[in-house]
Amino acid sequence: MLEQILPASASVAEVRGDVADAVLFPEEKEVISNAVEKRRREFRTGRACARSALVDLGVQSQAIPSGPRGAPQWPAGVVGSITHCDGYRAAAVARTTDLVTIGVDAEVDAPLPEGVLADIALPEEVRALEALALAEPGLSWDRLLFSIKESVYKAWFPLTERWLGFEDARVRIDPHCGSFAARLLVPGPSLDGGELNTFAGCWLAGDGLLLAAIGTPVGAGQAVSGVGAGGAVGKD
Ligand SMILES: CC(C)(COP(=O)(O)OP(=O)(O)OC[C@H]1O[C@@H](n2cnc3c(N)ncnc32)[C@H](O)[C@@H]1OP(=O)(O)O)[C@@H](O)C(=O)NCCC(=O)NCCS
Repeated sequence: MLEQILPASASVAEVRGDVADAVLFPEEKEVISNAVEKRRREFRTGRACARSALVDLGVQSQAIPSGPRGAPQWPAGVVGSITHCDGYRAAAVARTTDLVTIGVDAEVDAPLPEGVLADIALPEEVRALEALALAEPGLSWDRLLFSIKESVYKAWFPLTERWLGFEDARVRIDPHCGSFAARLLVPGPSLDGGELNTFAGCWLAGDGLLLAAIGTPVGAGQAVSGVGAGGAVGKD
């Protein structure tokens, strides 16, 4: 599913459930040494997906340690992102000659718990979600917004190594094209001599899941500001 919403230059691996025989490198074992079994399983399977995606890209299977704020440390010349939710794990990677960053997120298609939306959405985003829910009530639009914002953070962090709050980006969801644009409300990362102020991505609903993905192409920093400036993505 995930490869449908990333550029063709990205290599994707995804599984439902867990990879029973997934093996970790010592520095990866360290990350989950004090974790509960559920966390161990998702971490192991996420790493197995990541290695499988790397091999498909032609990169040797190797350790992918976690950085100081949890970001996976990819091999030189590679960008990538990992996600896991109940019953689904995935990773996407690409060469830095093709994409400058990747952010992927998966969520179960179910409404957010009571009270969470107010913490993650701007007032204009709440109004837009209400309109989307009226037009198409079958989808958990609030959860999709959450997933998109998490994908934005995962794409943002490797470029900046800074925190980005839920109030720091305004997301517009296009329900017809399966795309979104996240306009940064704080200074964006410097890229290609310009400033990246919008992350553009795609989303997909299916099989009980919501997926959000950003794959920002090289050169996106030179694009003009505004919706789509982060590089519209989709399978060619
Ligand atoms: C980090 C975060 C985005 C993870 O999302 P999640 O839905 O909880 O969990 P997921 O399973 O989808 O993703 C977890 C993976 O994200 C990746 N990740 C964690 N921290 C990361 C970071 N700082 N940068 C990039 N990727 C990160 C890791 O690969 C992690 O899996 P692993 O620990 O097994 O390697 C989330 O916990 C978080 O801190 N959100 C707050 C920040 C935010 O979303 N701001 C919104 C900006 S608009």
